[in-house]
Amino acid sequence: MTRSKSIVGALALIMASLLAACSSSGGATPSAAAPSEAAPTAAASEAAPSAAAETTYADLTVGFIQTGSEGGWRAANTASFKDTATQLGINLKFYDAQNKLENQLSAFRNFIADDEVDVIILAALEAAGWDQVLQEAADAGKIVVLEDRRIDAPEDLYATYIGSDFTEEGRKAAVEMCTLLDGSASKNVVELVGNVGSSAAIDRGKGFREKMGDCGITITKSQTANWDATEGKTVMQAFLQDSKDIQGVFAQNDEMGLGAVQALKEAGLKPATDVKIITVDATKGAFEAMIAGDINTVVECNPLLAPQVYEAALKAVNGETLPKWVPSLESVFYQKDAETTLPDRTY
Ligand code: AHR
Repeated sequence: MTRSKSIVGALALIMASLLAACSSSGGATPSAAAPSEAAPTAAASEAAPSAAAETTYADLTVGFIQTGSEGGWRAANTASFKDTATQLGINLKFYDAQNKLENQLSAFRNFIADDEVDVIILAALEAAGWDQVLQEAADAGKIVVLEDRRIDAPEDLYATYIGSDFTEEGRKAAVEMCTLLDGSASKNVVELVGNVGSSAAIDRGKGFREKMGDCGITITKSQTANWDATEGKTVMQAFLQDSKDIQGVFAQNDEMGLGAVQALKEAGLKPATDVKIITVDATKGAFEAMIAGDINTVVECNPLLAPQVYEAALKAVNGETLPKWVPSLESVFYQKDAETTLPDRTY
């Protein structure tokens, strides 16, 4: 955005904020969003009434800070943002932080300093540590939209968060594990955790623990494998070396679960039969593993968030007040349905 465009934009923002403040009914209640990659609605380009010319997708420049490229879920998330930007005519400045928090922070500051950038979109590697840069963004008049990962920061420092209810995903995984272990004398479950400090890892672990007591599950081991298949295999090997008295694996994503499958096979155990396996994400790889009989159940986490995120970004630029969280609607998939469902999977 040029300086004159910024001034016009700022005036529009002030006017639209005043109008929104007069007419808004609050907007603090999260509304559920469709899990599929629905096209942004026409309402996005007709967002808030404003005396000045409204910003459209074609005027919009967004700086997107991605975590990295750690697996199938992330690849689908990145593709969603790149493809949708092209379709809508948005100028996307994409930054891959290679799973380093310091890279995310410096990219954030670069986007604050970049006059062209209207909105900074962040997929935060870790939940904590954002207050300072968010304040800098607010001081510079930059709008921030969170995608995928929630953060621990005051809500007035970002426009909205669009992403999954990770705690609910963890609860669902525990409920499904209870079903799989019904009748089992021991219910020892090991947990493969995502990157430490990420909201996805924290909340999935929390949700699982909330529900596991309902059927007497014990988490005997829990360790990070950083969302990665190779690390998942190594960590699972170490778990098995310590004790083979394991009835279930809760892998916080598909890749780590696929790594655990390999470790179990090499240890002479039959995955999904001798040891029940639940993963999160629902990538094609997990469906193929369910069809092969290696994974029991998969909890969905929807990565196709770009249409909703861009729509929210545009609304925010045009002065609309947004709900602070728009959770995605997500399902659970079972081994018995995997073959019929796989053709419909897009990631
Ligand atoms: O935040 C979503 C998580 O991040 C996915 O479950 C995991 O695969 C990804 O890397």
